[in-house]
Amino acid sequence: MEAPRTAEDIRDVNTRYHDVAAESYDAKWGIDFGEPGQEQVLMKLRKVLGPALARGYGDSLEIGSGTGYFSLNLLQAGVVERATCTDISPGMLETLRGNADRLGLEVATVATDAEDLPFEDESFDLVLGHAVLHHLPDLEQAFGEFHRVLRPGGTLVFAGEPSRVGDRLARVPKRGAAAVAPLWRRAIGARPLGAAASEPEPGSANGNGHGPTNGHAHDHALEQFVDIHAFTQSDLADRAHAAGFADVEVRGEELVANWFGWTNRVLEASAEPADIPWGWRQYAYRGYLLLQKLDERLLEGRLPPAIFYNLLLAARKPVYDDAAAGTSR
Ligand SMILES: C[S@@+](CC[C@H](N)C(=O)[O-])C[C@H]1O[C@@H](n2cnc3c(N)ncnc32)[C@H](O)[C@@H]1O
Repeated sequence: MEAPRTAEDIRDVNTRYHDVAAESYDAKWGIDFGEPGQEQVLMKLRKVLGPALARGYGDSLEIGSGTGYFSLNLLQAGVVERATCTDISPGMLETLRGNADRLGLEVATVATDAEDLPFEDESFDLVLGHAVLHHLPDLEQAFGEFHRVLRPGGTLVFAGEPSRVGDRLARVPKRGAAAVAPLWRRAIGARPLGAAASEPEPGSANGNGHGPTNGHAHDHALEQFVDIHAFTQSDLADRAHAAGFADVEVRGEELVANWFGWTNRVLEASAEPADIPWGWRQYAYRGYLLLQKLDERLLEGRLPPAIFYNLLLAARKPVYDDAAAGTSR
């Protein structure tokens, strides 16, 4: 497939890729809506919002909400009262509505591009997103929209945005894991991914062009084109300032945990999921949580944000009197 060239192509590729990914997205990324999921989301936001998180927010708007990881967990944790979730992919929003129904949560969903939000000015107290800015072709336009729909004094927060250096550093464990994947599969007794699909089930014809085999191929073909940015700390801060935000803070998150996570993800992605032993999955999950704590307690406050895998951004839309009184920063 040819690389997308225009902003319209990028939006189209993102919509198609995420529509296909929607059904298996939660399983692929281990997205959880119980206590562990809520803890993860709160832990990330607390890093940049601090005590304000405990005071909570009335109306929230999530950008690129996917299957609802952040908004549904924030609703359950009582951090937001009313959530509106947006995404360019109708498929992701359909999965999100299924998740909300199962959890007994009410949520508004709107399929829309982040750069053209169909909401009145000053409609929300919180605009948030996780792992979405790196998909948007026109960040200037998007940040303008976030500012427009926030009420004065409202909060902007994004987490899980890849930093440019962190993204490059992560290529090392990714390549290393890809190189040792055959040995690892042999050690745990797993077949390579796709082996099960090439073994025809009794009584069924294989390769009929439908189902997971076709979906995976489609997924892989588009995957390389959906991520279009990795950011420096100042890229994100400059965007927010240029759009009129104040109190802009950008910090780094996850270093060692990410190397460990990427190594395991690449190994696991190379194998038939059913062949991966429970004990391995526990090791990968618990090891990740442990290293996440190590990053948070020992490294995040000491090393430059630029080298971490993810960046977190928080900012505030000034109350207009702030600016007049010269208190806007
Ligand atoms: C990596 S996923 C993250 C989903 C979710 N926030 C999470 O953390 O699980 C990125 C999401 O951004 C959405 N997206 C991509 N381009 C977009 C755009 N231009 N406008 C709105 N959403 C977009 C995708 O459809 C996808 O659901």
